Amino acid sequence: MKIALGSDHAGFPLKKEIMEHLKSQNIEFKDFGTFSEDSCDYPDFAEKVGEQVVSKNCEFGILVCGTGIGISISANKIPGIRAALCSDTFSAHACREHNNANILALGQRVVGAGLANDIVDTFLSAEFQGGRHQRRIDKITDIENRWRSRNE
Ligand code: RB5
Repeated sequence: MKIALGSDHAGFPLKKEIMEHLKSQNIEFKDFGTFSEDSCDYPDFAEKVGEQVVSKNCEFGILVCGTGIGISISANKIPGIRAALCSDTFSAHACREHNNANILALGQRVVGAGLANDIVDTFLSAEFQGGRHQRRIDKITDIENRWRSRNE
C-alpha cells in the first residue's frame, strides 16, 4: 500500500507527525508538499495528491490543511476522488466501508496528533463493503459524468 500525502502550510506540522507515524509502521508514502510553513494555497496540493490517487500511482491520499475543509473540497473536484474529512474514528471507518473514500482529509486546527494518527490507522485498515453502497458510489460517478458533459 502506497499513500500520497499533501498539506498546505497550516497542515504541515500535522502532516509531519503523520509521516513519522506511517514510517513507524513501515507504510510506504510519498510527500507531495508543501515542504515548509511558508504560506501557500491548499488547492495546489489537493490536486497533486488527487492526481496520484486517480492515476492509481498511490492507493490512498491523506490531505491536511487548517480545517481540512478547503483541501477536501478541492480534491473532490477531481472526478473519481472521494475525499472524506474526518475528525473522529467512526467517520474514518464509515467513509471507507460505505463511501469507498480514497482520500482522508484532516484539520490540523481541529484534531491533535494522537487522534489524527488513530483516524489514519482506522481509515487505512477499514474495507469497502460493496453491495448497496456500490450502487450509491455509481450514482456519484453518474453525477460527475452528467456535470462534466454539461460544462463542455
Ligand atoms: C489557511 O489559513 C487555511 O485557510 C487553510 O489551511 C484551510 O483551513 C482552508 O480550508
